[in-house]
Amino acid sequence: MGYETLLITREANVATLTINRPAVLNALSAQVFQEMMHFLDDKTATQGLRALIITGAGEKAFIAGADIAAMQSLTPVQALKFARLGQDFTVKLEEQPFISIARVQGYALGGGCEVAMACDFVVASETALFGQPEVDLGLIPGFGGTQRLARRVGLPMAMEMLCAGRKLNGKEAVQHGLASTVVPAAELDAAIAKIIKNILKAAPHAIAETKRLARASLEQPLSSGLSAEATAFATCFAGEESREGIQAFLEKRKAQF
Ligand code: HXC
Repeated sequence: MGYETLLITREANVATLTINRPAVLNALSAQVFQEMMHFLDDKTATQGLRALIITGAGEKAFIAGADIAAMQSLTPVQALKFARLGQDFTVKLEEQPFISIARVQGYALGGGCEVAMACDFVVASETALFGQPEVDLGLIPGFGGTQRLARRVGLPMAMEMLCAGRKLNGKEAVQHGLASTVVPAAELDAAIAKIIKNILKAAPHAIAETKRLARASLEQPLSSGLSAEATAFATCFAGEESREGIQAFLEKRKAQF
């Protein structure tokens, strides 16, 4: 499908989704979410995908938030639908078996910070700026910010970001657990390529299961999580991946997954 707000490229089993609205700093309209949902639902496009990089066009912004102009005329019912659409996208992204990587350069504000938090990895340039400025517009976050931010950075920092306009640059985002890697802007793609190289040499099913369990750990009691982990660990031994991975180690060769 031809998208109007996205650019999608794919090389082997790695795809890049670029939100392509640089004139409005890649602001998130309903159409952006509908197209991103369509991409995730497109089995042909996602078949065999191991990693998805999500980024914004241009150097100034990852995403400067939900489209403020488009929100001006929303009724409460339409606002509910818009929030749900964005939330459904974030959940669908988290549920994918492949790894998602937010490539954050420049502003990641409001909905931009929320989309980044739904990615498995957040790789930031030193020029990144994360924030949740919705209250300045008389709004609150609607794509998960009131829920995911405190889980990431702890409640005190989340409160400062959500209620008092605190922004985190790339280095601070790593210090506070919002991002995992920060590099100078010129090294952003190389840093992501290095992460992806490591993902690609590991076993796909093992990664998907690890991601599923680690994400679930945020939502369930430890005892349930440990039980799910043991079951999934056992299931590894019913598949080809563990046979190949272990055998390759013992034979001192690279595993072929
Ligand atoms: C629509 C936006 C936009 C946005 C920027 N633009 N952010 N349009 N929605 N979120 C547009 C500007 O209107 C401008 O258009 C162009 O992009 C360039 O932006 P400038 O403001 O001129 O750039 P600059 O002075 O460098 O300031 C950059 C900025 C600022 C600090 C990022 O644009 C800004 O504060 N943007 C809004 C950030 C924000 O509040 N985000 C949260 C949104 S609410 P023109 O036509 O003038 O060139 C949200 C809620 C999510 O995300 C939940 C919903 C359910």
